[in-house]
Order: sequence, then C-alpha cells, then structure tokens
Amino acid sequence: MSANNEEMVVTPWEVSGKIDYDKLIKEFGTQPLTPEILELIQRLAGDLHLQLRRRIFFSHRDLDWILRRFEAGEKFVLYTGRGPSGPVHIGHLAPWMFTKYLQDKFDSKLYFQITDDERFLYHDDFAFADTQKWAYENALDLIALGFDPKKTRMIMDTRNIGALYNLALSIAKHVTFSTAKAVFGFQESTNIGLIFYPAVQAAPAFLESSLVGHNVPCLIPAAIDQDPYWRVTRDVAPKLGYYKPAQIHCRFVPGLGRGGKMSASMPETAIFTVDQPELAEKKILSAFTGGRATVEEQRRLGANPDVCSVFAYDYFLFMDDREIENLRLDCLAGNILCGECKQVLAERVKKFLVEHQEKREKAKDHFEEYLCSAKDY
Ligand code: TYM
Repeated sequence: MSANNEEMVVTPWEVSGKIDYDKLIKEFGTQPLTPEILELIQRLAGDLHLQLRRRIFFSHRDLDWILRRFEAGEKFVLYTGRGPSGPVHIGHLAPWMFTKYLQDKFDSKLYFQITDDERFLYHDDFAFADTQKWAYENALDLIALGFDPKKTRMIMDTRNIGALYNLALSIAKHVTFSTAKAVFGFQESTNIGLIFYPAVQAAPAFLESSLVGHNVPCLIPAAIDQDPYWRVTRDVAPKLGYYKPAQIHCRFVPGLGRGGKMSASMPETAIFTVDQPELAEKKILSAFTGGRATVEEQRRLGANPDVCSVFAYDYFLFMDDREIENLRLDCLAGNILCGECKQVLAERVKKFLVEHQEKREKAKDHFEEYLCSAKDY
C-alpha cells in the first residue's frame, strides 16, 4: 500500500502522493458539489460556510437528496468521528468545524464515533491504554469546538459498543470477505479484528433510525479518505431497510512541508492542538513556501501562492475572503515577502491555540455530558 511521491494513494489508513481531487471523484464514484447544491444550502442555511465557498468541501453523495428531504420537513442526523492514535492536528479540526456549522444551521443531532478499537487493532505497538488515553484527549478537542451537548453524542467504541453491536453484526452478515478485501486491501496477514471493524464504523450511520424505529436520513461530513467505509455502508443499507447515508467530502489540509496532507506521522509539519504556541510558531517559520531564491527576485517576479503551505493554511482556516484575495494578489505581485507572511500566520495560529487550549481545559468538566451512556440506547 505504499507509494512514491507522485503516485496518489488515498485510503482510510494512508494518504500520499499528489492528490488529484477530480480523479478521486471519478475513481470513488462520488459527485462534485454543484452551484445548484450550494444555492440550496445557502437558501436553507442562510449562509455558505467558508469551506463550501472555497470548495474545500468539494464532493458528495446524495447531499441534494438529504437537503430536499430537509426542505420537506424531514430532519437529518450528522455522523463523523476520529481514530484516536495521537494528538489532534488542526487539519482534523477543519471537517469538525464544518460539522458544527451544519449542526447549528440544520439543528441536527450529531453522532461522533471515537474508534479506539480501530486504532488498537491497526497499530501493532499500541496497548489499550494508549488508544483510550488518546480517545479522551481527542474528545476534549471536539468538545472545545462548542458542539451543543444536548444534540451531540460521542460514541467511544470500547465503552459504548452496546449501542452498536447488534447493528454491526447485521451489517457484517452482508459483507463478504472478498468485498472487504477489494475495498480495504486486506491481506492474509491482516488481523481478523480489522476485518470486522468496517461494520463497526458503518453502524452509527443507522443508529438513529434503529433507535427511533423509523428511517432518519444521515449525513457524514469527513475528508475523502473515509469514503471506502461509506461505499460498503451504502451497499448494505437497503438490505437492512435503512436509507443510504449521504456524504460530503473535504480536501486535506496540507502539512507545512512541500506537498502532502497534514499528518501526525510528520510532527514537524503538523500543528497539533496541544502544541505550545511557540513551538507552532517555530514550525511555521520553517514552513515550505512558494517564495523565490532572493528578496530581489521575489520583489521583481512575485511568488507562487498555489504551492505555498503558509498560503494554504490561511486559505483553509485563517483568512476571510477579502484578506485571502488581497494576500494572493500581493504575493503574486511581489509586494509581500515570505517572512512577513509566515509571521502573520504564526500570530493567528498562536492566538487560536491559546484560545482552543483554554476551551480544552474547560472541556474536561463536560466530557461525561457528551459521552453516550446506557440511557441513549
Ligand atoms: P481520523 O482520525 O483519521 O481522521 C479524523 C477526521 O479528520 C479527517 N482528516 C482530515 N481532514 C482534513 N485535513 C486533513 N489533513 C485530515 N486528516 C484527516 C478524516 O477524514 C476524518 O474525518 N476511521 C476514522 C474515524 C471515524 C470516522 C467516522 C471519521 C469513525 N467514524 C465517521 C469520519 C466519519 C479515522 O480514523 O479518522
């Protein structure tokens, strides 16, 4: 499953190479987000989130269907999650921030699955205690984003498997090993826990329907790496009498290096929510940019924002529409140097981290409020 720098690999466990999002739409069989769908969201939500305006969320399945049902009076639930194998980086926060927008605008209940089982099974060197520690730590990041506790249920798999087990069994019964192998690339050497696991990740998509006893549409916002799970989930849905879950897929927030997504396996190019602000600043000051070899050249020829990781951060998370357009023009014209640009981003990231870390501390008192308990199922 490995790739050289150019070959694109996008699976739930590995994202590498140069990512061609149009090609992914074709390969995965998803749909591009069209102006018509964006208009519909604008009408129903009252505004368009930055990640929609900039097509950071770029692809979907059945989003139009779920929005039309909403328009006709049928509410939907949201479902997303985290595999807790280390600290959360700010790339993970992007789809969660967007999920918060959806919860606020569509008054949706959110199921958030924390897959400590998946990460225990996947990482040879992980003990239970490791994944459970990260499950708790990562949950704090979600809570810190301000989700409504009355409408948010976190499912930590090893603690709340009772909520999912019957569903997971029914799903597993309809997925053959040959399908699982084709979709997930399982090998003879894959442990059997991982082979069952996709049924556990599929289950929350049907949880609300199963609990209330009638079909409730479900929308899954996530980066496109999770798509293989939804292909299997959607195949099984009609066999169990459930709606197929709809999805909206985002691009990957890149790392601070040259190309590639932000990844915990390259800590020097990722900004973690628990990083000391000074450390984050240091990482940003060493980031790869689209700058020229000398100041004189840059003033004369301008730089390239399209390959610049600092610009990408501003674009994904830290600048409004006017600021980002001005920055693009200034960069192209050579009016701004990379050092100045890095400093602007570093200040914003530091401010964000200080505020987020305060909210994370406060979240410790609210963890149980968000976690599923027996009364939820
Ligand atoms: P995990 O922990 O790998 O990723 C958590 C979420 O973050 C997204 N993501 C990113 N988004 C933007 N930029 C990046 N650089 C970036 N890297 C990761 C992922 O797509 C994901 O949405 N198996 C899952 C956990 C899970 C889940 C779900 C995720 C269980 N149920 C439902 C989404 C929806 C996992 O390990 O995610």
